[in-house]
Amino acid sequence: MNVDAALALHDVGLVHPNGQRALHGVALEVPRGARVAVVGPSGAGKTSLLRVAGTALRANEGRIELLGEHPWQLQGGALRALRSRVGLIHQAPPIPPRLRVVTAVLAGRLGRWSAWRAMGSLLMPSDIAGAEEALARLDMADRLFDRCDRLSGGQLQRVGMARVLYQQPELILADEPVSALDPTLADMAIGELVAQSRNTGATLLASLHAVDLALKWFDRIVGLRAGVVAFDAPASEVSRAMLQELYANEGSLLPTQAPAHEVNTMVDVLRARPNACR
Ligand SMILES: Nc1ncnc2c1ncn2[C@@H]1O[C@H](COP(=O)(O)OP(=O)(O)OP(=O)(O)O)[C@@H](O)[C@H]1O
Ligand SMILES: [Mg+2]
Repeated sequence: MNVDAALALHDVGLVHPNGQRALHGVALEVPRGARVAVVGPSGAGKTSLLRVAGTALRANEGRIELLGEHPWQLQGGALRALRSRVGLIHQAPPIPPRLRVVTAVLAGRLGRWSAWRAMGSLLMPSDIAGAEEALARLDMADRLFDRCDRLSGGQLQRVGMARVLYQQPELILADEPVSALDPTLADMAIGELVAQSRNTGATLLASLHAVDLALKWFDRIVGLRAGVVAFDAPASEVSRAMLQELYANEGSLLPTQAPAHEVNTMVDVLRARPNACR
C-alpha cells in the first residue's frame, strides 16, 4: 500500500446492478495534496468513479485504497470514521429540504462530533460564525438562516460546498460541483476549493463538465471515456486534439464554462499558461 496516496484505484471495474458497465480497468493514484480533475462526455463514468472512490459503491473488480486504508476490509465503526475524513460534494446535494442553511453547513462535521453535540446542533447551532465564514467564501453568508428548500439549485450547490469547506476533510471528492452556477460564480467556487486544498493540504478530486475550468485550476487532468481512462496527464500537456478525441461524439465544440465561440481559443490560451492562475 502506498501511504503517500490519498486515493489509489487498482484495475477497478464497476458493473451496475442492471448490467451496465460503468468502469473498466481503471488505475488511478492521487497523491496527498494533489488537485486532479476528471473530464469526459456524459455517461463516461465520472460519477461512478467518484462514488467508488468515496465508498458509496463497491467495485466489482479490482481494489481501492483510501487515505492509507483498505476501506472494504474495515468494520462498521472504522469505515464510518474513514468516511468522515472524506468530503463529498454532489451535483445536487442531498440536503433535507426543511433544514436551515446554517444547520446544513454545520452538519459537515457531524462525523467528528460526539453524538450529544451533534444532536444539540440541530436544535441550536453551536458554531454560527464558522458556518457563516464558510458560506461567505461562496457569497452565501446572507442566506445563513434561510431554509434549504427556498434556495435555487446553484445556491444549494454552494451550501453543499460550504458544508465541505467547514468539514475540513483530508480528501474532497466533488462531482460536477459547479454545474448549476454561472461562469463567474463557477470560477470563484472552484477557486475556493483549490484554496482550501492549498491552505489545509486537502487532496481534491473533482469531475468537471467544463474543460476550461479544469485546465485553469487543476494540476492534472484525467480524461474518462466509456469507463476507461483515455489519458492522465499534467494540465500543461493536455492538447486540444486529446480533448477533441475525448468528446468526439459531442460535435466539434468542447464543453466549457465560457461562451462556445470563445472556447477553442480559450483552451489554447489556458493550456499555454497553465500556471497563470495558481
Ligand atoms: N445507478 C445506475 N444504474 C445503472 N446504470 C448506471 C447507474 N448509474 C450510472 N449508470 C450507467 O453507468 C455509466 C456511467 O454513468 P455515470 O453516471 O458514472 O457517468 P457520468 O460520466 O457521471 O455522466 P454525466 O456527465 O452525465 O454525469 C452510464 O452508462 C450510466 O448509464
Ligand atoms: Mg455524472
